[in-house]
Amino acid sequence: MRVHTAVVPAAGMGTRFLPATKAVPKELLPILDQPALQLIIDEAVGAGVDHIVIVTSHTKPAIEAYFAPAPDVIAKLRSSGREAMADRLQSIGRDVQVSFAYQDEARGLGHAVGCAREAVGDEPFAVLLPDEIMGSSALLDQLARLCESTGGSVVGLKRVPHDQVGSYGVIDPVGEADERGVIAIKDMVEKPSPADAPSNLIIIGRYVLTPDVFDEIAKVAPGAGGEIQLTDALRAQATRSPFHGVVSDVTRYDTGNPFGWLTAVIEIALADPSMGAPLTDWLGQLMRWNSVG
Ligand code: G1P
Repeated sequence: MRVHTAVVPAAGMGTRFLPATKAVPKELLPILDQPALQLIIDEAVGAGVDHIVIVTSHTKPAIEAYFAPAPDVIAKLRSSGREAMADRLQSIGRDVQVSFAYQDEARGLGHAVGCAREAVGDEPFAVLLPDEIMGSSALLDQLARLCESTGGSVVGLKRVPHDQVGSYGVIDPVGEADERGVIAIKDMVEKPSPADAPSNLIIIGRYVLTPDVFDEIAKVAPGAGGEIQLTDALRAQATRSPFHGVVSDVTRYDTGNPFGWLTAVIEIALADPSMGAPLTDWLGQLMRWNSVG
């Protein structure tokens, strides 16, 4: 069955971006002129998704406000001839069905995904962690197709230096990845110490999961950091069903902290047709001034 729903966990407090996130949810911080959340939605839509479930918190009303109709702004834009921007605003939340689920307690990623159960229903679904922005929909599309063909859950993977594995979910593979990057997974562990890690293949924030994961989430006890970990629910799936990963070299920006966000914005601006050239000039000047000074 084709994957048509994507869950975006967005209930976190964004502590790494305080005080900015005191009033503005981290998922709405701009990447050039768009909130990061819009890029995540566009990626999902590009992989065939037509229903987005945002898991948010009642303390973050701005997330829902982003999807609310804005007839006054749109009318003003149209009256001043800015049709393209008016159309763009009008399409937000209309080109795809957006629903909301709520997680009002910070109990971990597994718990957040569990909060989307009713909205997802009984079919395979994608999960996109909005702290990571991908350069294209290619990886998610590949995960969705692989879930369809194997009937089991699938996760996006990246190989990292061994000393970096402790911040991530790390998989225990069966053999080597094939020419498409596909690798079978027999187990995984959340935030292991590098010495105990079963590999240096980390789970990046893209998943396509079969719906039995909801029963596993309901059974999981608090794990790493005292939280209900999605990785612990997935490892239960991996023990009894086919479970695969795709080792990917898709462009990936980690926007979960201010430095990562800044470098993502710069790289994306450098690739932007209207900003790339002037930004390159400005950066060049800045470097020259710095080397002179
Ligand atoms: C979460 C997952 C982890 C995964 C990571 C990817 O961790 O629990 O398995 O590797 O996202 O970014 P978090 O970043 O929420 O600590």
